[in-house]
Amino acid sequence: MSVFLDKEYYNLLSDDSKFALEQSILIAEKLGINIYLIGGIVRDFIMNNKIKDIDVAVQGDVVLFAKELVEQTNCEIINIQDKLRTAKVKFESGVEIDFASTRKEIYLSSGILPQACDFGCDLIDDVRRRDFTINTLALKLTGSDKFLLIDYFNGYQDIVNKKIRILHEKSFVDDPSRIIRAIKFKIRFNFDIEENTYVQMQQYLNNVDKKMPLERIKSELRQLFSIDNYNTYNEIIKSNAYKLISDNPIREINIDRINEILSYDLYDKSEFWFILICCLIINSDFAYSRLNMTAFERKVLFETKELLSVHEISINDNEKIYKLFNNKIDLSIALYYIISGEKSVIKFLNVLKQIKVLITGKDLIELGFIPSAYFNELFDKILKEKLRGKLKTKEEEKKFIQKFLKK
Ligand code: CTP
Repeated sequence: MSVFLDKEYYNLLSDDSKFALEQSILIAEKLGINIYLIGGIVRDFIMNNKIKDIDVAVQGDVVLFAKELVEQTNCEIINIQDKLRTAKVKFESGVEIDFASTRKEIYLSSGILPQACDFGCDLIDDVRRRDFTINTLALKLTGSDKFLLIDYFNGYQDIVNKKIRILHEKSFVDDPSRIIRAIKFKIRFNFDIEENTYVQMQQYLNNVDKKMPLERIKSELRQLFSIDNYNTYNEIIKSNAYKLISDNPIREINIDRINEILSYDLYDKSEFWFILICCLIINSDFAYSRLNMTAFERKVLFETKELLSVHEISINDNEKIYKLFNNKIDLSIALYYIISGEKSVIKFLNVLKQIKVLITGKDLIELGFIPSAYFNELFDKILKEKLRGKLKTKEEEKKFIQKFLKK
């Protein structure tokens, strides 16, 4: 049965987007090739969701198509991948469209990008390489059957039934990052993971390849952890998806602690995904080297592990608390608190962090000290006193330090 998508769906696009698509359609028709809206955008049309990206499949050579588009209209190519036959084009209005030649994909190894081939292939072969049925829908933009909804895998019905379903049983073996994507769509759309898809997912998770590269998984986790902080973490634990990167995650994160630590402005909200990833991997060694972490990320993880290895911190031992947390990255302190709930963190942030030695090197010289490495010892002595609640003013510091002046 042919279903033509009601034009109203198309109206979810802005006028500028529609105009950019009309220009693209003219070029495609001139070149005698078919183009289709494909994947997420068609899914979002049907679900009446806000449209994020415009993806267009070109059943032909995208490089040729994009060049013709630039020649005939006022747009520019902002990124072109000759090898992958994709082109990002920016139209005069600022609208951007991602064009890609239809292609087949072959997975050579788990976790790495598949090899693309057979560019300009039939639409069904392009669709076959995709993750879930809900992402396989295409909307024909050219020809007499314009706006025909092409649905090779029953994606429309799965959207209606709110089901996330893989296309074939090897899907998660080909690309384990799809496990995180399944959870992302489940949470984002409030869908269910279809039964057999869930079984295949669990089968893979019982047999995770501990050598595969984890960049794609990290990037999907980052997206997932930006949706809804708490549910997403619980879902990763509940579904066993944590096994992709960890043997032993922190099983429960405490929302009260997260909210409490948030009020101290120790990190930017956009860094929160990383805190959640750390909660997954902090007790597990296997993912460290393959997560492609930045030097900063590694340092946060290292510092937090160091803090977690400290046994017993007496809440009255100001000096120890100060030494533990001073000079640590704020994000490490936040992560440590979320995991441990250690009250000394709060004491440090509320009180001790504010304690500063007021006297300077110049003051010491004026008092008659000769500049040397000994200055650091002197500052330390003052700090210790201050941590005991003494020496509130600079004058008191000066008076205290004078007794160390060698006659
Ligand atoms: N895709 C896939 N396997 C992946 C990642 C992507 O098969 N590991 C396919 C999906 O079919 C998807 C398309 O590539 O529709 C484009 O990927 P992406 O832009 O990430 O997906 P969207 O569905 O547009 O998701 P979002 O709404 O989050 O942008």
